[in-house]
Amino acid sequence: MNPQQIELVKNTVPVLRESGVALTSYFYARMLKNHPELNNVFNLDHQSSGRQPRALAAAVLAYADNIENPSVLAKAIEHITTKHVSLDIRPEQYAIVGDNLLHSISEVLDVPMESELIAAWKVAYLQLADILIGVEKQKYDNLAAQNGGWAGWRTFIVKNIESLDSGKRFSLVPQDAQAIVPADAGSFISVKVKVPNQSIEQPQQFSFTEDQIAQEYSFVVKAEETATEFSVANILLNTYQVNDVVQVSAPVKR
Ligand code: HEM
Repeated sequence: MNPQQIELVKNTVPVLRESGVALTSYFYARMLKNHPELNNVFNLDHQSSGRQPRALAAAVLAYADNIENPSVLAKAIEHITTKHVSLDIRPEQYAIVGDNLLHSISEVLDVPMESELIAAWKVAYLQLADILIGVEKQKYDNLAAQNGGWAGWRTFIVKNIESLDSGKRFSLVPQDAQAIVPADAGSFISVKVKVPNQSIEQPQQFSFTEDQIAQEYSFVVKAEETATEFSVANILLNTYQVNDVVQVSAPVKR
């Protein structure tokens, strides 16, 4: 980025602080309207609670604040890329996010798409996207290279459901009956389920409370009281049975 572009991006930080959440909420609504297939990627339960819009707003602001020295964002980048890899986020999806983000900045702040401000934000976004895509590629490669590892989604079968006081313990085994990587307590997988009566799927992360060494993944699912019909936990608890299939991403560490 040239110094003038850095200046332009940094100057929008106070404005974004004021309207950051409004901007990202607007951005999500716009993007999901234009790309309904992304309803399978984003957790709609999180969308309605505003959790994800806040997280993205915070990340965009932190980046703008540190545009001259993105290395200070190493911890945030590690966190975001781990989550993205667990959700099988792909490089080509960055173009969709970028396009909708820039249009949203333009529309919410009422500046033309052809303005220097949007051009500067485009360079900034591409710079951040490049960093994330690079780190994510490394993580996908590492996951696929492990014995029993894989990148993206893999089909698992519900082998057992045990009722507990606090919820239900689900045990999953891979449909291909091949090896699966062991996982430490505290690491997590994403599980993707079909939403009943709707043609969409929804992902959600579940953490392991114990080391996973038995060629199956087992975790406790607890009911979510305030959730919408998109709560993966409630869908698992209320509609999934032994021998049903789910999509699972390889375990990653927080
Ligand atoms: C520069 C671009 C991006 C930034 C700065 C960014 C930032 C973030 C942040 C801060 C989170 C929250 C992490 C957490 O929950 O702990 C997140 C989660 C997520 N991101 Fe991104 N992201 C970017 C691009 C993308 C793209 C291209 C996609 C795919 C279309 C995507 C999909 C998601 C999803 C599905 C989640 C999980 C949200 C949920 O809880 O439902 N992101 N991202």
